Amino acid sequence: MTNNSFDLAVIGSGPGGYVAAIRAAQLGLNTAIIEKDKFLGGTCLNVGCIPSKALLHSTKIFHLVNHEISSHGIKTVGVSMDIATLMQKKTSIVDTLRRGVEALVKKRKISIFKGHGKLLGNNKIEVKGENNSEEIVARSIILATGSKVAELPFLKCDGEHIVSSTDAIAFDSPPEKLIVIGGGAIGLELGSVWSRLGSEVSILESLPRIGATYDPDITQLAERIFKKQGMKIETEAKVTGVKIDGDHSIVSVDKKGKTMELMANKVLLSVGRVPYTDKLGLEELGVRKNDSGHIITDESYRTNVDGVYAIGDTIEGPMLAHKAEEEGIAAAEIIAGKTAHVNYKTIPNVIYTEPEIASVGISEEEAKEQKLDTCIGKFPLTANGRAIASGTTDGMVKVIADSTTDRLLGVQVISHNASELIAAAVVHMEYSGSAEDMARTVTAHPTLSESLKEAAMAVNKTSIHSF
Ligand code: NAI
Repeated sequence: MTNNSFDLAVIGSGPGGYVAAIRAAQLGLNTAIIEKDKFLGGTCLNVGCIPSKALLHSTKIFHLVNHEISSHGIKTVGVSMDIATLMQKKTSIVDTLRRGVEALVKKRKISIFKGHGKLLGNNKIEVKGENNSEEIVARSIILATGSKVAELPFLKCDGEHIVSSTDAIAFDSPPEKLIVIGGGAIGLELGSVWSRLGSEVSILESLPRIGATYDPDITQLAERIFKKQGMKIETEAKVTGVKIDGDHSIVSVDKKGKTMELMANKVLLSVGRVPYTDKLGLEELGVRKNDSGHIITDESYRTNVDGVYAIGDTIEGPMLAHKAEEEGIAAAEIIAGKTAHVNYKTIPNVIYTEPEIASVGISEEEAKEQKLDTCIGKFPLTANGRAIASGTTDGMVKVIADSTTDRLLGVQVISHNASELIAAAVVHMEYSGSAEDMARTVTAHPTLSESLKEAAMAVNKTSIHSF
């Protein structure tokens, strides 16, 4: 075997790619990673999940100090935010994790090739660096090249007036007026960050509700809470055009048939993401994609081309780091000759606002669409002792169970730390648990987790702490 010959080459080093490579190396495969960017870690680590969570954490502290701390008897004077330090902190968090991922990969003796990977056929990949180009050969290839920002037919990001999430995690000052197009995870998270830092934030969502994958009772509560925090939210408000006028933009919005015009200093385009497979050589090789640009695979992540696999945002399914990781592990195990699968029914989803919104399984609406008979249990955080003690009573838990079998179909949570609470629901669902299993699981008191148990009890009308 020459130095450029591998059992497996993974193109892309995001959470799907680097995790696949590590698992493959653990299983004894001689593995390479090809990455076009300077750092490993992909969108999630470099410009997505991690930097946004760093900013959300810092700005949450700022918001608490400004708005809530005095009720604890803590007196502050002259509180201000130094944006440069905030951004440095975010960068140092990202740097720490970059070093961590690189160390994990190198420790497993995975070869790293820096450059743009392109399939050449016959198991060959061209890696084009800034100044050189080389070829590697791999028995199996995993495509883990992720996704890019979706744009609108009439609106492209220019990095200045019309920005993407990558720009909006690095503003050097809060824009006076920030218009966010799209009330999904990115819009709500980055809208929260800049609203806490003083921007007047307006979220424009074309659907009747923000966070549309959650049930209306959850999103209506979220909308009320976010409006109370200061964000403006317009639903059924479809952006139809943007005109740039000097240093600001005029955004045209169709709100239930009426046209409004809004002024913004910055416009954040967060209307989704699309698979990123540019210049990968898919067309030349005949790798099949569907109409939305996702690579088509079978349940073992095999494309129609022998030896070529695809995972993560490049294929169908929620564009989530943890979904990509699970697929990376499964694909590596399959390539190494094992059996593996991902349980798509138990992939949690989180929006990291305050309170956070999290779910697993199907919503009540989806259950109705599937003509399933359900029993619903709800519990408000206002009735949870820990929430009252810690001033985090905004929220509720909703449990959706099958009315015949009592089996859990889904759980939705809007609460402080919902991203952590949802893990218990995921475990119950992973083991095909029932609402009664969840209701009879002992939960430490006082904790926010008790509200999961109480919502499960409410399915069978046995909640102790609510009516
Ligand atoms: P999204 O698909 O979650 O939300 C986009 C929203 O934009 C939708 O509600 C859509 O109805 C709305 N929209 C589309 N066109 C519009 C128009 N012309 N006017 C007004 N509204 C319009 O997309 P988002 O937030 O950009 O996120 C992209 C991907 O990244 C998603 O798959 C998301 O799950 C993932 N992501 C996940 C995060 C998390 O897990 N916390 C954080 C950030 C991103």
